[in-house]
Parts: sequence; structure tokens; C-alpha cells
Amino acid sequence: MKIFADTANVEDIKQINELGIIDGVTTNPTLVAREGKDWESVEKQICEIVDGPVSAEVTASEAPAMVEQARVLSKWADNIVVKIPMTAEGLKAVKVLSQEGIKTNVTLVFSAMQGLLAAKAGATYVSPFLGRLDDIGADGVELVQKLRQIFDNYGYRTEIIAASIRNYQHVEQVALAGCDIATIPAKILVKLWKHPLTDQGLVAFEKDWAEFERLQK
Ligand code: G3P
Repeated sequence: MKIFADTANVEDIKQINELGIIDGVTTNPTLVAREGKDWESVEKQICEIVDGPVSAEVTASEAPAMVEQARVLSKWADNIVVKIPMTAEGLKAVKVLSQEGIKTNVTLVFSAMQGLLAAKAGATYVSPFLGRLDDIGADGVELVQKLRQIFDNYGYRTEIIAASIRNYQHVEQVALAGCDIATIPAKILVKLWKHPLTDQGLVAFEKDWAEFERLQK
């Protein structure tokens, strides 16, 4: 499974990227606004740091304006993917953009049928929002399972990005479901590699080795 960083924080992205396990980045208007910096320069910096797709989201709501904006965003860097909201206007825009060869990530997907329509329109990626479904008592992981089966049934090459990831279990469950990508906030990514037993085990190894070396002298 590919792992994307779900953040627009350039410093976090630099640090995470050094691990060598990041395949891309997703941003959205909320994440960019949180940084309080110029949008275009933030996206361009991220595109230089990360060798993989970087999603930047349109802010227009009508299809013609989305398409115009997407054409501009796609020129910011070779690895920009244009995020389009899952609306009727968004579907129209995705159809046009896919015919132009501009990669799209259909975002704010909360049902299997939304995902199917996005794939039919030619989306490169669809982003089901797990945490926000769980917040209303629905099952985000189940949506990923359904999308996996539907895309496999009909051979859609659209990749599924599990988004709105809130915890370790979300990542593990979507990996088991055969999800293509999980986009993960920096604070959750840390939890994927940290384990108290690893830390305890290392302390014991270091202590035993120091004792062994002392006895050798
Ligand atoms: O990738 C989507 C993500 O940024 C939204 O996450 O936690 O605001 O639902 P959240």
C-alpha cells in the first residue's frame, strides 16, 4: 500500500520524506489555510520535496471554473494532481480533465455510488473520508471494502485513497482491505513505526551489550 502524507506543512513533509516511505502528499483548503502562507508557493515547495503525486484542491464550484482552475494548478508542477469535490459539477469537470490528461483526485467521497461515478468520469484517484463517516456512526473502512470490490468487479484503474484517517487501526484495516493508498496526518504516521516493546527491547539489548563489552575488557 502506498502512503501519502496528509498535510500542507512543509517542515513536517521534509522530515517525513527523510524516512523514505512517502509516496505522495494530499492537501486541501483547510490544511493550506492552517499554514497561513501563499498557496502556490506551498504547493510548489511540496512538489519539489516529494517525488510523487501532490494533490491540490480547486476552490471553484462550477464545472467550467473548476476546469479553468485545474488547468492552472496542473501547471504548478509535473506531479500536481487536481483535487475535485464529489459534486455533479465536479463529475463534469473530471470528465473534461481526464480527456485532457490532467490527473484528478475526487474528494469528499462518502458512498460507494459516489466512488463508482467518479471512476466512470475518469478520476485517477477517489478519496473516501473514513473518520468523518465514523463520526456519524457509519463505517469508513466498510466503504473502502465496497469500493475495492466494485473497482475490481469492473476493472476500474482508479486508485482508492483512504482519507480522513484518524488512528492506527484505520491504516491497518484499509491495508487489509486492499486499499491502494492511505493518506495519513503526521501525528498518526509517527504511531505506525513506534512501539513500546521495540523501545524496551532496544534498551535491553544496549544494556546487555554494554555488560558483555565490560566483561571482555
Ligand atoms: O484527507 C482528508 C483529511 O484531511 C480530512 O481529515 O480529519 O479533517 O476528517 P479530517
